[in-house]
Amino acid sequence: MRIVAVGDLHCRDHPTEELRTLLKGIGDGADVLVLAGDLTETGLPHEMEVLLGMLKKVNVPKIAVLGNHDYESDQQDTLTQMLCDADVRVLNGTVCEMDGVGFVGTKGFCGGFDNLFIQPFGERALKTFIQTSIEEAVQLENALAKLDCPRKVAILHYAPIKATVEGEPPELHAFLGCSRLANALDRQGVAAILHGHAHYGSPEGRTPGGIPVYNVCRFVQARHGPHPYCRLEV
Ligand SMILES: [Fe+2]
Ligand SMILES: [Fe+2]
Repeated sequence: MRIVAVGDLHCRDHPTEELRTLLKGIGDGADVLVLAGDLTETGLPHEMEVLLGMLKKVNVPKIAVLGNHDYESDQQDTLTQMLCDADVRVLNGTVCEMDGVGFVGTKGFCGGFDNLFIQPFGERALKTFIQTSIEEAVQLENALAKLDCPRKVAILHYAPIKATVEGEPPELHAFLGCSRLANALDRQGVAAILHGHAHYGSPEGRTPGGIPVYNVCRFVQARHGPHPYCRLEV
């Protein structure tokens, strides 16, 4: 399956030439378009409407997860419904199958990486924060366990490993993703992991278990490759 993936479109209240150019021809030669969150700038239905207007011209099946920006106005359910109405599959701790390839997706959350992993200890506020991170990983793992496909791909917004956030200030790393996501995916096994969110991060890395991870954020892809999106085959 030929996948084209992009994250962090951050669509505002009018179509821009930059987004039009990005989306022009993005579906050529691809079997599926993956949208890795932050579809809108402030999570407003009007911004989603603008994006969906532009996506209409991209004639390939589409799968999306939401990003933190899509939650900004507390209208994530409305945005999800709008995407579904436009035939975009939205994954939120859920799975879907397309031409024999299984996709699992969730937004993910913060928490930090490796030995700088924040533990749910001390104040209630910190425990609640980390509990959100744990729940995202548990949800991802449970969903994946239900997927009975030889080839599987995971879609996230937050990063699962430190390597693909490298380039961002180290003080921010704990807010850009969490190793819990990688650990869950390593236990279940997938062919590739796609994520966005870390605009100043790096394009590729691997989980401790060896799964390739791609930061498909459009800004990262534009800095490191010929296009502001990522093409891969699984
Ligand atoms: Fe973003
Ligand atoms: Fe984000």
